Amino acid sequence: MLLHIPKVLGSDQVRQFRQAMDSAEWVDGLATSGIQSAMVKKNWQLPEGVPLTRQLGDVVLDALGKSPRFIAAALPLKVYPPAFNRYAEGQTYGTHIDNAVRILRGTDFRVRGDLSATLFLSEPDDYDGGELVVQDTYGEHRVKLPAGDLVLYPASSEHCVTPVTRGVRVASFFWIQSMVRDEGARRMLFDLDTAIQGLVPAVGNDDPNVVRLTGVYHNLLRRWAEC
Ligand code: NI
Repeated sequence: MLLHIPKVLGSDQVRQFRQAMDSAEWVDGLATSGIQSAMVKKNWQLPEGVPLTRQLGDVVLDALGKSPRFIAAALPLKVYPPAFNRYAEGQTYGTHIDNAVRILRGTDFRVRGDLSATLFLSEPDDYDGGELVVQDTYGEHRVKLPAGDLVLYPASSEHCVTPVTRGVRVASFFWIQSMVRDEGARRMLFDLDTAIQGLVPAVGNDDPNVVRLTGVYHNLLRRWAEC
């Protein structure tokens, strides 16, 4: 399932991010890739672990914590510190699958990537190309969202970023370990949660069927969650 989560960051926040990032020093994106993906990757990244990357990453994590839709869809257990990339004209990231496990350098913090996320920080009109293309069992999905919007997709998917042919594409990207590892189970929980939230305005929180369905949601989560 691909999920679009609008306005994770507001326009003021995006502007502040861009001011800070536009004057930052960028390094070759190969710094964080595995062997196969290194062969197809051509972009810039903010260096890992420096104060600016951490500070911006913390703002992203804080915004995710305030997004009910993100929490309902990802059921996050751990999030790898957000990274930031920049594709200038001619840059691209060919087809690859993200690494299964990320270990934060110099620590024992590790995250199994169940979900991948891209948070767009450039407006779609500011560049041509630079689409995130994700393959799933239903085919190919091309994603290019307004600045501040996020897309979540299964980390097991093949994906690429098409070459930027004009302008600059800036984004944040990161991986999430979910409490519910199985994608199908996670999807059913999200659908059930969304359906309950849809019923509440019509029948109220204390409707016995809403209470029972909410109980089913939590009992399924209890059955499937690893925390
Ligand atoms: Ni990737």
